[in-house]
Amino acid sequence: MSSVLTRENATRGARDAGEAADKATQQRVAFVTGGMGGIGTAICRRLARNGIRVVAGCLPGYGHKSEWLDAMRGEGLQVHAAEGDVDDFDSCAQMFYQVRAVVGPVDILVNNAGIARDSVFKRMLPADWHAVINTNLNSVFNVTRQVVESMADRGWGRIVNMSSVNAIRGQFGQANYSAAKAGMHGFTKALAQEVVKKGVTVNTISPGYVETDMVRAIKPEVLKGIVDQIPIGRLARPEEIAGLIAYLVSDEAAYITGANVSINGGMHMC
Ligand code: CAA
Repeated sequence: MSSVLTRENATRGARDAGEAADKATQQRVAFVTGGMGGIGTAICRRLARNGIRVVAGCLPGYGHKSEWLDAMRGEGLQVHAAEGDVDDFDSCAQMFYQVRAVVGPVDILVNNAGIARDSVFKRMLPADWHAVINTNLNSVFNVTRQVVESMADRGWGRIVNMSSVNAIRGQFGQANYSAAKAGMHGFTKALAQEVVKKGVTVNTISPGYVETDMVRAIKPEVLKGIVDQIPIGRLARPEEIAGLIAYLVSDEAAYITGANVSINGGMHMC
C-alpha cells in the first residue's frame, strides 16, 4: 500500500523527525582513554551497544587504529577514534578540541589508560617510577581538566577512573603502580565534592586481575600464585569490568559519587 501524504501524517512525520533529531542531539558521547586495549575495547563495545557515541583514545600514530575501527564498525557500533598522549596536557587539549568539533561535547569520561613497570623497589629505576605516575595518575588530571567544566555547565556528567585492587592492598613489585592507582582514589573523592551539585558524578573502580596483555605478561609461575589467591578461582573477564562501568555511567547511578567500587572476585574484601 502506497503511503498517502495528508496534513495529519505530514504533521506526524514532522513530529517523528523532530523526535529523532532530538534523540540524536541528546545521544550521549563517551570518551575512553586507552580505548583500544583489552579492557578499553570491552568498555567501548558495551557503551556503544547501549546507544552511546563512543570515542576511543589512543596514542598518536597507534598502528592498529584503523583495524580496530573497522572491527568495531563491522559489529554495527558507532565508534570514533582520537589520537593524543595522555601524559601531556597540551596534547590532551588538542585532542579534545578535535573531539568537540567532530563528535560533540563529552558527557562520559572513562580514565582507563594505564601501564605497569613492575620491579622490586630496590631495583626500580626513576624512569619506571615517572612513566607509571605520568600515564596512570597525571593523565587523570590532563584528561579530566579538558571535560569536567563543560559537564558541570551542561548539568550532567559521569567520570569513572580505573584504579586497581593493588591500590587498596599494595602489591609486591608495584610501588609505582600502587601509588599511582591509590592517588586516583583521593582525586575521585576531592573532585566528586566539587561537582556533586552540578549533576556530575566521579567514581573509581578497582578491578582485580583481568584477562589482558598486562596480566598475561606476568611470569606464569607468579601468575599461578596470584590466581590461587583469588577466591573465585579465575581472572576477571574484560566484559565484567565493562558491565560495571555501563552501570556507573547510567542515569540510574546518579546517587553514586566519590565511591571506589571493587570488582576483584573476592581477592580483597573491604
Ligand atoms: N610477597 C613476598 N615476597 C615475594 C612476593 C610477594 N608477593 N613475590 C615475590 N616475592 C619474593 C620471591 O619469593 C623472591 O624471594 P627470594 O629472592 O627469597 O627467592 C623475591 O621476592 C624475588 O621474586 P622474583 O624472583 O619474582 O623477582 P623478579 O625480580 O624476577 O620479579 C616481580 C619481581 C617483577 C615484581 C615479579 O615478582 C612479579 O611480576 N610479580 C607480580 C607483580 C604483579 O602482581 N603485577 C600485576 C601486573 S597486572 C596489573 O597491574 C593490573 C592490576 O591492576 C591488577
